[in-house]
Amino acid sequence: MKKEYGINNKPNLNLARKRLGKETKVIEFEIAQKYKDLGVGKTYMIKTYGCQGNLSDSGKMAGILEALGFKRVEEEIQADFILFNTCAIRENAENRIFGELGRIKKIKKQHPELIIGICGCMMQEEATIEKIQKKCPHVDVIFGTHNIVKLPEYLYIALNNQKALEVMSVEGDIYENIPNVRDHPYKAWVDIMYGCDEFCTYCIVPYTRGKERSRRPEDIIKEVKSLADLGYQEVTLLGQNVDAYGNDLDINYKFSDLLVDLNKINIPRIRFTTSHPRDFDDKTIAAMALGGNIMPHLHLPVQSGNDEVLKRMNRKYTSGEYIDKMNKLKEQVPGISITTDIIVAFPGETEEQFNDTLKLVEAIEFEGAFTFIYSPRIGTPAAKYPNPLTEDEKKQRLLTLNKKINEYTLKGNKRFEGEVVEVLVDGFSKTDPEMLTGYTQHNKLINFKGNEELIGTIVKVKVKKSFTWHLLGELV
Ligand code: SAH
Ligand code: SF4
Ligand code: F3S
Repeated sequence: MKKEYGINNKPNLNLARKRLGKETKVIEFEIAQKYKDLGVGKTYMIKTYGCQGNLSDSGKMAGILEALGFKRVEEEIQADFILFNTCAIRENAENRIFGELGRIKKIKKQHPELIIGICGCMMQEEATIEKIQKKCPHVDVIFGTHNIVKLPEYLYIALNNQKALEVMSVEGDIYENIPNVRDHPYKAWVDIMYGCDEFCTYCIVPYTRGKERSRRPEDIIKEVKSLADLGYQEVTLLGQNVDAYGNDLDINYKFSDLLVDLNKINIPRIRFTTSHPRDFDDKTIAAMALGGNIMPHLHLPVQSGNDEVLKRMNRKYTSGEYIDKMNKLKEQVPGISITTDIIVAFPGETEEQFNDTLKLVEAIEFEGAFTFIYSPRIGTPAAKYPNPLTEDEKKQRLLTLNKKINEYTLKGNKRFEGEVVEVLVDGFSKTDPEMLTGYTQHNKLINFKGNEELIGTIVKVKVKKSFTWHLLGELV
């Protein structure tokens, strides 16, 4: 039987592109009385794709579901509600989701009461929604990134045998005190801002996540303090461009001010992602130089080493400016580890321009990088630029770049051989259950022998040998 829609509200990418100047309100999250026991006796599973922003949203949605009475399960076949939290950053991310939706259809046949939901960045694109409606009639609930707080209402509709589709084109307000189920017992994500106003010409995020909205500093500080009280060892501050934090607030309080304030809190480790080279400033360098709980690692996506390409990407900095900032940082935070993101085969990138990227890698000596082949995204300006490179040429550039990056990753890891490093112990290694595994202050993965009791603590480890992907050490 074909289900009726309880809500049917599609997004509009054109509207998402416009910054309408809507005022952002801060609202205390609450679950309406009507929905309070909705999930009692029921189970759920959330499958998350994409960036830390999505992981953070999934934690909040799990929190909402558990507040409704839902219990988490690990197997699809045991779940009464399965939610896919999707990513739209590159085409392969999207293709994967359609594969998953095809597969899950069989599970729904075995378990017809199963409610299937899909949310996240992919849902902000009208073409994707139309494809899902056409090809995946077994999906019951569709919603976007701006309305995760309305999950109880959508489930209520689905449990009453209707479908719910609601995607807002324009960003929502900031909700505080959403319950949160964190996946990791010692490490937590903390959103400091939402959205992105950069409009890099290749990127879909400003359309799927809306305009930049910063949380109030007091709310962030309160959250980090409470995590410290709960015994968390590490907090990663999240935003698409953390260096733009505070620009939209009515007070003069920037990202560097936040770092200075968090530096005073008794939590062992503070990390942050992602910074933007244009906005990364002297004050942030000075805050990082305070040391203490601010970890000596910076992830600063450069995207390309060629100024013409950077211009066409709308990145608003030159490779020279990037190098100058990093030299300053290296001077003031000796030994800092710098990692990056790079896109190869951006439309029109010549061999020479690609070589400039290789030269930049040599100049900075990146100790790691996420590297990508450019993927056209509908609605973004670069999707219309001509790109004459063949698939083989694109792959070849990626291989050449990765080879160069790996050289410097290994070099960066080698510098720790013989040194004693501090490690936050995550658990036993997945590849070798004899070994404990964790991350150093410089964000290097390290394996070493030790007891279970060390999990969740920070220990000193002597680095015995360094490889490209990990270090091997011995407990001191
Ligand atoms: N806000 C962050 C992260 C954005 S997404 C930032 O500005 O760095 C993470 C990475 O995905 C980007 O840094 C970029 O390298 C890559 N990326 C984004 N859009 C892409 C596209 N259309 N094709 C290929 N890679 C892309
Ligand atoms: Fe995308 Fe650029 Fe914003 Fe990063 S800064 S999310 S790459 S538009
Ligand atoms: Fe993907 Fe959306 Fe993050 S597109 S990378 S999940 S902001």
